[in-house]
Amino acid sequence: MAPAISGGEPKGQRLGVNLLFGALLFVVVGSLAGEWMSIQHKLGNLWFWFGTQGYEYVDLGRFWQILLFLGLTFWLWLMWRALKPALAKRDHSHSLLLMFLLASVAIPLFYAAGLMYGQRSNLVTVEYWRWWVVHLWVEGFFEVFATVVIAFLLTRLKLLSLPTATRAVMFSTAVFLSGGIIGTFHHLYFAGTPNIVLGLGSVFSALEVVPLVLIGFEAWENIRLARAREQHVWVTAYKWPIYFFVAVAFWNFVGAGLFGFLINPPIALYYMQGLNTTPLHGHTALFGVYGMLGLGLMLFCLRALRPGQAWKNGPLAFAFWTINGGLAAMVVFSLLPIGLMQTWASVEYGTWYARSAEFLHSGHMNELRWMRMIGDTIFAVGALVLGWFVLGLLTGHSYDKRGYVVEGEWEVRSRETVIGGRH
Ligand code: HEM
Ligand SMILES: [Fe+2]
Repeated sequence: MAPAISGGEPKGQRLGVNLLFGALLFVVVGSLAGEWMSIQHKLGNLWFWFGTQGYEYVDLGRFWQILLFLGLTFWLWLMWRALKPALAKRDHSHSLLLMFLLASVAIPLFYAAGLMYGQRSNLVTVEYWRWWVVHLWVEGFFEVFATVVIAFLLTRLKLLSLPTATRAVMFSTAVFLSGGIIGTFHHLYFAGTPNIVLGLGSVFSALEVVPLVLIGFEAWENIRLARAREQHVWVTAYKWPIYFFVAVAFWNFVGAGLFGFLINPPIALYYMQGLNTTPLHGHTALFGVYGMLGLGLMLFCLRALRPGQAWKNGPLAFAFWTINGGLAAMVVFSLLPIGLMQTWASVEYGTWYARSAEFLHSGHMNELRWMRMIGDTIFAVGALVLGWFVLGLLTGHSYDKRGYVVEGEWEVRSRETVIGGRH
């Protein structure tokens, strides 16, 4: 992203990026191996440092956690040195760039909150800091980061003007952070905290839905604008990367906004904590928002990396609709009905019953669980096709020989125009 913003790369950046990739691989493989060994009781007293800490989302051992933090700091340094020339220019993109830099600083900084507790800390203390990492990342700084990145790309594609983008980003950031920071308390309603936490948490986390709705409308507006200009320059070469960004807005609204809100009021969570309504929200928000964002950014970078032959849109369109449709089918046909039935059981008899094997294997519950096969299969097929497409960018089977994309431009030209013109 950084070269797309500053127009070039500082010396040695390639080496840095490759090093970072190697380091990430080391941490992922090392921590997974450690977790496995720890669970197999092969690590003895070293479990906390090299094995699993046993906390969801910060499972990895402390040693790996520190390495990951150092890696994120190194990533921040790489970002900074690449953005420095653009920052020095002080043109109208300055405010947006500063936001980008701030969001980038927040990512390693708030991961560090996961280092605030020790092996023998009280569970309540651990939960408190753990949610700093999990919640503040996904509902605070990642949201800001995602909004800024997408705004930058849309301005580069001339779908959005810089002043409009800057205003929208500033406004959403203010609302995201004012809701998101105190909103962290929605994970601590019943964690032995004082009553005030319940009140503050529920009010501020409810506010988080506001920017999610606005961003949804914003994305829809952009698509409409782009379509209206279709006769001129519809961004044909970037259509599918942009569609993935629209999917981000959609799942932000449905997964984070709607399904998050469903379990968010204290009275709802009193009955529904840890039922299937939680993965309903977790899958649609986490994959829907950050998974789709990752795929969109990947496609965007791949497209900009190597201008030249146009892409075959068929496999991309197929992957887009199956990945999104599969995710929707998985939650609608399985997680949502199971979650709602569990909610009924929890209100009627209690959480112990809603989560018991006795209830989960009664009536139609087994069939509903197996219904996941449908959505999961559709999703998996989409993922395979996308993988096959990306592979084809190396081997050549993903290119459409009839079209051509010129560096720095966003529409596909037909071969004849290019041959008759420049070549
Ligand atoms: C893109 C943004 C979001 C992502 C990626 C996300 C992700 C997640 C995940 C993975 C969990 C499960 C945590 C666990 O079980 O340990 C969770 C829980 C929760 N989320 Fe979100 N979320 C997002 C936005 C929201 C919003 C906007 C709200 C409220 C309006 C919300 C409300 C909740 C609540 C109340 C829980 C606790 C559920 C429980 O304890 O059973 N989330 N979220
Ligand atoms: Fe949260």
